[in-house]
Amino acid sequence: MTLPETGWSRDQIFAALTEMKAHDLATEGGAAFAYVYDSGERAAAALASQAYSMFLGANGLDPTAFPSLLRMENEIVGWCAAHLGGGPEASGSFTSGGTESLILAVKTARDWARVHRPEITRPEMVVPVTAHASLHKAAHYLGVTLVPCPVDPRSFKVDVAAMRAAITANTILLTASAASYAHGVIDPIAEIGALALERGLLFHVDGCIGAFLLPYFRRLGAAVPAFDLSVAGVSSISMDLHKYGYAPKGASVIVYRDKQLRRHQLYACADWTGYAVINSTVQSTKSGGPLAAAWTLLHALGDAGYLELARRTLAATQAIVAGVRAIPGLRVLGEPEMSLLAFTSDSGGLFLFAVADAMARRGWLVQPQLHGHGAPASLHLTISAGHLAVVDRFLVDLRASVAEVEAAGADPATAMLLQAAGGLDFASLGDEGFTQALALVGVQGGQLPERMAPIHALLDALPAAVREAALLAFLNDLYTAHAPSVAPPGHAASAGSK
Ligand SMILES: Cc1ncc(COP(=O)(O)O)c(C=O)c1O
Repeated sequence: MTLPETGWSRDQIFAALTEMKAHDLATEGGAAFAYVYDSGERAAAALASQAYSMFLGANGLDPTAFPSLLRMENEIVGWCAAHLGGGPEASGSFTSGGTESLILAVKTARDWARVHRPEITRPEMVVPVTAHASLHKAAHYLGVTLVPCPVDPRSFKVDVAAMRAAITANTILLTASAASYAHGVIDPIAEIGALALERGLLFHVDGCIGAFLLPYFRRLGAAVPAFDLSVAGVSSISMDLHKYGYAPKGASVIVYRDKQLRRHQLYACADWTGYAVINSTVQSTKSGGPLAAAWTLLHALGDAGYLELARRTLAATQAIVAGVRAIPGLRVLGEPEMSLLAFTSDSGGLFLFAVADAMARRGWLVQPQLHGHGAPASLHLTISAGHLAVVDRFLVDLRASVAEVEAAGADPATAMLLQAAGGLDFASLGDEGFTQALALVGVQGGQLPERMAPIHALLDALPAAVREAALLAFLNDLYTAHAPSVAPPGHAASAGSK
């Protein structure tokens, strides 16, 4: 990009933004079964976006300069703590998302252990293999070794005996999901809590995706086991407001059993030549927009509003689970306990990935999941309240997509490509080599082809470490400082209307 010599007009800017946005996934209307949480409540969403703009310039860096932000954060965390079974001592923080909440959970455990278990120099955390990737990222960033634990191959819930066996003298933290992203099941939280108490360990529950919705599902009669701070042994829990709280992105909380534990999350620096830094979260300067928008949505929808959204989400989920089960050849994995599900096919990964492409041609985004740790390749659906209106159309299209891929038979080009890829020595490929290998499946200069099935099939065929190396090569090409600039649309027409 080059800076325009003089600023563009409002019309030019919004014409350019609209043109760029035209290629994005639609965030409303129910087409997306990942990335997006659509309540369908347009009036409440409009209020949230107004509040977002109102507090966009406020800076959470200094809560004393912006007492409104401090007040909103304390109010939100207070409600979240109560929603999550916290007692009068519970305390927490508002963060930018699930990943930041989980990074903070691990940082807190690491720094707690530095004080209470100073003999540990190589800290470890014991994590189900179904735990969200952001826990791997937290471990990677913070120098904590992640010890993965197997799950039951049918229920996809972590094997608590294996967790027990994985604990060593270096263990500082146990984690589990309520619910897991990939399969939407709740790990045995009470049993793990008892284990944590017995061994004197911290235990974080990743409730990023499930903790907001699950208590509402319980009120609607669903069988939801205790999974939060009401369970003995749970020391902290994370919950994203930008998922089933339907807040605009950039909104999550982490809540601890008490303030003494939260103390290890905080950071201060007064040993430089500038202002005294006090940070409760990873970010330092942070917009007040997400916080104000989340506060607004909680007040605009209220308890009755969220209960109604949960009712619609549960109804949509039950209809979709039954609909998928009724399609010959598809199999739902485990027993989904909230509004997330994964289904597989005995016809294999390539078949499923082709179904995802066929669904994309019909306007739907379903999310491919690679096989691993005993779980087969699958397609994932995150279902929200806005999906209830489109369930029937979705199931008709899914059935048609499956039939279409079955009728087309095996894709010989992709099969040949996978065979050719099988002969490559991926372990010795550098970034250049990966870029060339990705070009074979149509990925060039960070651009993706229309048919994604060959890419997913290739990734699915590789060991995890090689998948990661290929993805990093792709990402390194994707973000480039040398992309062509957008030309100012309608330059002459709107030049005077700045
Ligand atoms: C269980 C779970 N944990 C953590 C995350 C990460 O959240 P975010 O994408 O907001 O960083 C997700 C995201 O889907 C999730 O489902």
